[in-house]
Amino acid sequence: MKLIVEPASRPLTGTVVIPGDKSIGHRALLFSLLSATPVRVLGLGDGADNGRSAKAISALGATVVRDGKALVITGTGLAGMRAPAQPIDCGNSGTTIRLLCGLLAGQPFATTLVGDESLSKRPMRRVIAPLARMGAKIMGQGTGDDVTPPLTVGPAVGRLTAIEYTLPMASAQVKTAVLLASLYADGQSVVIEPGPSRDHSERMLAYLGAPLTVTGRSTVVDTRGWDRRLACDGFEVPADPSSAAFLVAAALLAGAGEVRLPGVCINPTRTGFLDAIAAMGGHVAIEDPRAAGPETVADLVIQGPARELRGITIAGDLAVRSIDELPILAVLASRARGTTVVRDAEELRVKESDRVETTCAMLRSFGIACEARPDGFVVEGRPDRPLDPGTVHADGDHRIAMAAAVAGLVARGPTHIDDADNVATSYPGFALALTQLGATIAQVS
Ligand code: S3P
Repeated sequence: MKLIVEPASRPLTGTVVIPGDKSIGHRALLFSLLSATPVRVLGLGDGADNGRSAKAISALGATVVRDGKALVITGTGLAGMRAPAQPIDCGNSGTTIRLLCGLLAGQPFATTLVGDESLSKRPMRRVIAPLARMGAKIMGQGTGDDVTPPLTVGPAVGRLTAIEYTLPMASAQVKTAVLLASLYADGQSVVIEPGPSRDHSERMLAYLGAPLTVTGRSTVVDTRGWDRRLACDGFEVPADPSSAAFLVAAALLAGAGEVRLPGVCINPTRTGFLDAIAAMGGHVAIEDPRAAGPETVADLVIQGPARELRGITIAGDLAVRSIDELPILAVLASRARGTTVVRDAEELRVKESDRVETTCAMLRSFGIACEARPDGFVVEGRPDRPLDPGTVHADGDHRIAMAAAVAGLVARGPTHIDDADNVATSYPGFALALTQLGATIAQVS
């Protein structure tokens, strides 16, 4: 599929309901499998990645039934999972495969996990290493630098061993895999992380009644005296801030009558992009913050003509808290006065594509100078003249395709984005949402 974007001819205006958060959606599905009582999940996004987790829990013994706007998931509890009849296909979804490693590490049966071409190249040693220390058996492909899918997880012999583990990188997927396996271990496990990766698992597992406590960067799961029962009535999946970021950037670049995005998750581990935008001189109002189960949501509102932004440095914790938004922040940087430097973001290199290279290549297609660095990139902003129109290859990466589409709104002519099918992994309605706000964007198959 190809996207064709026309330069915006007027300010964007309207209200868009962003689909449910992808990270929280995966966890709502996968953790419901562990629940002893049925769980009602409201607001799950329609992206293909969450669909992979839904299929996975069905294969492992859950029943998933639609009831109006909700999905009702009847799980198996911790001990009732069944061996899947076939390999589980995780598609493009790193979260599905890595969280499943943690869930399956303690099961008495073996499961094979496969993925698409991109997922089959992604590093899995990061989850295998701690889980192997807990006694799990996980086999993958490759003898070189890393281990890649297909993976075979299990069977486990008896209980896993509790672990104290300091993550080598700030990764919510690795952290969650170890926390899930810890539920199947005897004793006290401790997971310590070097940076503030998203903490939805900690919030949601505690909400389900897991014996879990968080102190600073350290999370303890202590199964001593625990009845190994998790349960809750339901989860409401808030709107995805990572999807919202594209529309926020579109409204900032093209100008906005008023663009309103209701009910977006504002968990502080996810709002680095809002802090970066504020530092660049952009204004996004965060209205009516309110609780939504274990998360907080608010309405994001962008108003007024495009203002000049300034280049900034994104590093340290801010880079961790905006890791999925760095491609769209790079687009904002391309229109900012001065230089934007992204550091401490080596994790970008192992996302759905090597996002250091694909972000730089995308900006260069618009005539913007972007230098790749081992742990990030440097963008020379060009606020005084529109971007050059042309063709962008999205490399099958949903966030690169959507970032390029937003950049196309401030180009001098139409932008063609090739290989954009994977927009559907996180935000199938993206082009429609931009159209609803008044942009002209066509999907061509
Ligand atoms: C995710 C964690 C992040 C993020 C990914 C989703 C999650 O990856 O980039 O899009 O849902 O746990 P890492 O855990 O590799 O940092």
